[in-house]
Amino acid sequence: MTAPIAIIGTGIAGLSAAQALHAAGHEVQLFDKSRGSGGRMASKRSDVGALDLGAQYFTARDRRFVDVVQQWQARGWVAEWTPNLYHSRNGQLSASPDEQVRWVGSPRMSAITRAMLGALPVHFSCRITEVFRGTQHWNLQDAEGNSYGPFSHVVIAAPAPQASALLAAAPKLASAASSVVMEPTWTVALAFANPLETKVDGCFVQDSPLDWLTRNHSKPGRDGNPDTWVLHASSSWSKQHLDMPKEDVIEHLHGAFAELIDCSMPAPMFSLAHRWLYSRPASAHQWGSLADADLGLYACGDWCLSGRVEGAWLSGQDAARKLLAHLQ
Ligand code: FAD
Ligand code: NAI
Repeated sequence: MTAPIAIIGTGIAGLSAAQALHAAGHEVQLFDKSRGSGGRMASKRSDVGALDLGAQYFTARDRRFVDVVQQWQARGWVAEWTPNLYHSRNGQLSASPDEQVRWVGSPRMSAITRAMLGALPVHFSCRITEVFRGTQHWNLQDAEGNSYGPFSHVVIAAPAPQASALLAAAPKLASAASSVVMEPTWTVALAFANPLETKVDGCFVQDSPLDWLTRNHSKPGRDGNPDTWVLHASSSWSKQHLDMPKEDVIEHLHGAFAELIDCSMPAPMFSLAHRWLYSRPASAHQWGSLADADLGLYACGDWCLSGRVEGAWLSGQDAARKLLAHLQ
């Protein structure tokens, strides 16, 4: 009997690879250090409902991704989001409508990866610290000292800095992954007892500590009270304030929000801050995925392509394609 394939990471890249390998008849086993799937597409459950703290929406430009998003839509996993879009430059807020189709998970961003995972076998709360090869097969070790294996192949679908640490068996791959700089993003979520009196649903921001803000409830399936907002700081502000205490981050970003929005700003009834340390690659690559086919070791993720949801999904497909091609 053939050993299963291990996949480290249950973000969209890892699940994209898992689905393709499973569909080709291979047994897969997934691992994630978090308590659930989604990675940077996860949604946080809170006292004010589910909040999309990472990816806010996504676009589909590549034909293969357009096709799969249409299938997701038919199954009810995603819905089109048609926000009243604005931009803010030098403190000037202006409507900024466009024709771009934008998608969100329904009823929350994490619905997509949850549905993709389905009944595939997964170990959550399991941080893999070592990927090592025996005479014929691969084994994994987690932070608690537990071992898993044997596996025929390993696909590492973690952000580049975390992937490079697991790629020691393939120094060229490790070196490519470690060359990728990933930038942080501070995120703040706020809830207001009474809806803010503004038409803004989403806003691209320049010349501010913020670079994006959105009314979480303007997305399909997220209605109800209270009125929740998600604010993203720019990479440069996040880098400069990486170790700022969460309360101070909330105060600063709430203040920046109050300065640019076109309505009065009450004190929030709820707030939280979340720091994404490896939020986005500083530049895009055209690698598809990284592979040492002879060893049977692969790495994929948004950092191998565009640094967006679409790039992550395509990268997972690319890793699966390379792995399957080598088996033929
Ligand atoms: P991830 O989602 O990071 O998944 C990696 C998984 O690996 C995680 O679940 C992690 O827990 C796990 N892992 C890591 N190390 C280990 C280990 N040692 N052992 C076990 N598990 C491990 N994209 C868009 O297209 N549109 C947007 O609007 C958008 N906004 C964003 C806003 C923010 C604040 C952030 C952070 C990202 C945003 N993105 C957006 C980017 C998008 O979220 C990512 O491109 C995409 O989700 C990356 O998917 P991935 O599978 O490559 O990685
Ligand atoms: P998109 O086409 O909607 O946006 C791309 C960029 O174009 C935006 O960042 C914005 O600068 C500009 N833009 C688009 N529509 C605009 C409008 N109506 N008015 C003014 N400016 C507009 O989506 P795409 O290409 O899929 O990008 C996804 C989004 O995710 C981007 O906003 C990107 O910044 C964000 N992102 C954030 C990350 C983070 O870590 N904070 C990581 C990866 C993506």
